[in-house]
Formats: sequence, structure tokens, C-alpha cells
Amino acid sequence: MAEQTSVVLEDAGKKVSLPLMEGSVGPKVIDIRKLYAETGHFTYDPGFTSTASCESKITYIDGDEGVLLYRGYSIDELAEQSDFPEVCYLLLNGELPTAGQKSQFLKNITYHTMVHEQLSMFFRGFRRDAHPMAVICGVVGALSAFYHDSTDISDPHQRVVASHRLIAKMPTIIAMAYKYSVGQPFMYPRNDLDYCSNFLYMTFGVPCEPYKVSPTLANALDKIFILHADHEQNASTSTVRLAGSSGANPFACIAAGIACLWGPAHGGANEAALNMLQQVGTPDRIPEYIAKAKDKNDPFRLMGFGHRVYKNYDPRAKVMQQTAKAVLEELGVHNDPLFQVAMELEKIALSDEYFIEKKLYPNVDFYSGIILRAMGFPTTMFTPLFALARTVGWIAQWAEMIADPSQKIGRPRQLYTGADRRTFVPVEARG
Ligand code: CMC
Repeated sequence: MAEQTSVVLEDAGKKVSLPLMEGSVGPKVIDIRKLYAETGHFTYDPGFTSTASCESKITYIDGDEGVLLYRGYSIDELAEQSDFPEVCYLLLNGELPTAGQKSQFLKNITYHTMVHEQLSMFFRGFRRDAHPMAVICGVVGALSAFYHDSTDISDPHQRVVASHRLIAKMPTIIAMAYKYSVGQPFMYPRNDLDYCSNFLYMTFGVPCEPYKVSPTLANALDKIFILHADHEQNASTSTVRLAGSSGANPFACIAAGIACLWGPAHGGANEAALNMLQQVGTPDRIPEYIAKAKDKNDPFRLMGFGHRVYKNYDPRAKVMQQTAKAVLEELGVHNDPLFQVAMELEKIALSDEYFIEKKLYPNVDFYSGIILRAMGFPTTMFTPLFALARTVGWIAQWAEMIADPSQKIGRPRQLYTGADRRTFVPVEARG
């Protein structure tokens, strides 16, 4: 049988042929670009559940099989054998670096870790009890006011410099947001440390005594960053692409992504998941929470469970569970009650008919909170850490879009259900 290359749609007796586009893997896509011109109709797809918004070569997810690939490499192999800077290079450039390319890339990133001294003034304008995501959103947006030599998006060199600056400065900015919230002095980056060790040092170090970075913790953080680095066209990445489609500069676009990531259904879920585990407290209360999650009249959901794309175990959650064990052991917390609650909750939910039928499995956020809390991060820092790691994915997707000759300003259509044209009534005549 000849391979299917189009889909025929019948509209008021007229047959309209729509081309089928084929990717390297994954389902085919119906090209509806000519649909309006041919039929006068739009499509309706709130939440983009069936709509591909772009062509991309960066990340592939098979939600049914629980597969996540960055540039063709599986996430568990990368978490096991690679490191976060190398993954950044891979996402940005399409290939793993050679030894020479890797050391040059590390040099480029290290060179940009400091922020403009005047940027520290920005922090002083925020209340100390502000959520760090509120602070980070503002400060990252403000980068475009400081780095004018990397905001011209038509210059490929400036685009590369902006991407290095963002990857290098996010740890510094996020550590500063933390320091500001606890009233401690900002710590300048140390370029003799690797990416994750430097971040731990800037976050937990103080000027009055030496801070020794635990290699196990730096390694665990590195894995967490790899797992969060990209996730194809999720809400925040789509936000970055949409903001960038108008020609906005990369710093403004990443600030838009940070704003979107903050929501509890997206990047805020790790904070919500840990709060939930704390609320559950002990394994004997799990059935009560499972019942709440299943109750149609109760808005409660098991945070860290379920995913728009994964209808199988989230491959990132598997690595995260193993990492949690290693970190808790390193810190001597063998019987962390929250970890016990999480493992038991997972076991019960995975054998419950409701969760099986709806294909609800633990996602990346289910265990990440336990690790970060054990490392000493307050819950409000969980989503900022997600933002730190996702920055490279956002910037790789943004750069891919800018370089795509078919790129257009993003402009969705709508199904209008408001009032039709009506005549203005002067205020004195309104009843
Ligand atoms: N607990 C209980 N029931 C759930 C849950 C949950 N966590 N998630 C989905 N359901 C039910 C939901 O009530 C619905 O039931 P019904 O069909 O009877 O109305 C069904 O499953 C489908 O849910 P949906 O909301 O239509 O599915 P979605 O694909 O739009 O939502 C989700 C995906 C992630 C927003 C949702 O599963 C959720 O709210 N999970 C908790 C929040 C969370 O952990 N988010 C992190 C996502 S992973 C990190 C990231 O990539 O940002």
C-alpha cells in the first residue's frame, strides 16, 4: 500500500487535501496552514493538546513509552554518563562536544558568571520576604538593561553571547535571590569551581568561613539540572518562543518563561509536591489523601503525579528516586519520613484502579523536592532551581526559532462567543 501523504477533509461538499508531514520519529502531523484559505474555518484546540506549534530538532518525548531524548540521547544515559555543561552544549549545538570544544565552552561560561555590580542594587528594591521567583523574574528581565551588546537578535554572534551569559548568570542571580531572602551577603562566583559546586558555594557559603562543597551533593544537583534542562514545547518554552517570535530580546524572553514556569501546574509543582508530602506527614494518612485525590467534588490532586504528555512512568522520576536515595545516604538521613511517605504513596497510587485507568504516574517533581530539601534548600527555592536548569532549554529553543526561515510572529486565532456589534448608549440613557 502506498504511504499516506495527505488527509482529505470534506467541507460543504468540497474536498480539501491537507498534507501530512513526517518527523524523524513520532506521530505524523497534519499541515493545516492552508485550511483557513481553503475552507474559511479555523481549528479549535485549547491547551494545544493536538497542535504542533513548530518544527524542532532538540528534544523528543514518547509519553506512552516514557522516553525522553535530548538530540537523540536518552535522558538516563545522559544523567548517568554526562554532566550538565556538556548537556548544555549538546542542546545548544546539536552534538556532544569534543574535549577541546568542551573546555572552550566551559571557559566561555565561566567567563560570564559575574553580574554587573549595579545589578545587585535591584535586589535591594525587593522586600526580603518576596518569593524568589518574583525577584528572579524581575532581575532576569532587567539583564536587557545591562547587556546591550547581546540584544541584537539579527546578529548570530550576539545570540551566542546572550546564551552564554544566561547560562552563566542564572546560578549567580538565583543564589543572590536566596542570600537576599536570608539577609546574608552576596557571594561572588568562584571560577575555580565547576558549575554546580560554584552554585552550592554561592548559595550556602558565607564570607567568614570556608565552605567545602560535597561532591555527592554537587553531583546530585548536576543530575537534577540535566533532567530539567529541556522538555520540548511545554508551557514555559512555548511562552519563550511566543515572546521571541515578536523579535523581543533573549533576556526579556527568558523572563517571560520564568513567569510561566512559576505556576503550580508547571514548575511550581515541586514546591507543591513537597508541601503535600509534609501535609500527609505519616504513611497511615495516605489512604485519606488518595481518597481526596479521587473525589470528583474535591479539587485536591496528588501533586507530583500525572503529566500532560507522559502516560507512563516519567523517565526523569526514575533517576530522581535513585538520586534521592544517594543524597539521603550521603547526608546520613537514612530514614527520612518524607521519603518513606513518598515511596509508600507511590506504591499505593500505582496499584490503585483510579490512577492505573487514568495513567497517572509520578513525574519529575515527585522526588526532586525531597532531595533539594535534604540539601538545605527552602521550598521557595525549588522552582528557581528548575528555572536555572531550564534556561538552557529555553535558549536553545529560542535560538532554533530565530534561525528558522519559516518563523513568523505567533498569533493564535479564537472562537469568539461575545456580543456582536451593537450601538453605543450614552451613560444618561443606560437603564
Ligand atoms: N491527582 C489526581 N487526579 C489527577 C491528577 C492528580 N495529580 N492529575 C490528573 N488527574 C485526573 C484529573 O482529575 C482528570 O480526571 P477526569 O478525566 O475524571 O476529569 C484526569 O486525571 C486527566 O487530568 P487533566 O487535568 O485533564 O490532565 P492534563 O494532561 O491536562 O494535566 C497535569 C496534567 C500535570 C496538569 C495534571 O496531571 C496535574 O495537575 N498534576 C499535578 C501537578 C503536577 O504534578 N504538575 C507537574 C507536571 S511535571 C513538571 C513539568 O513538566 O512542569
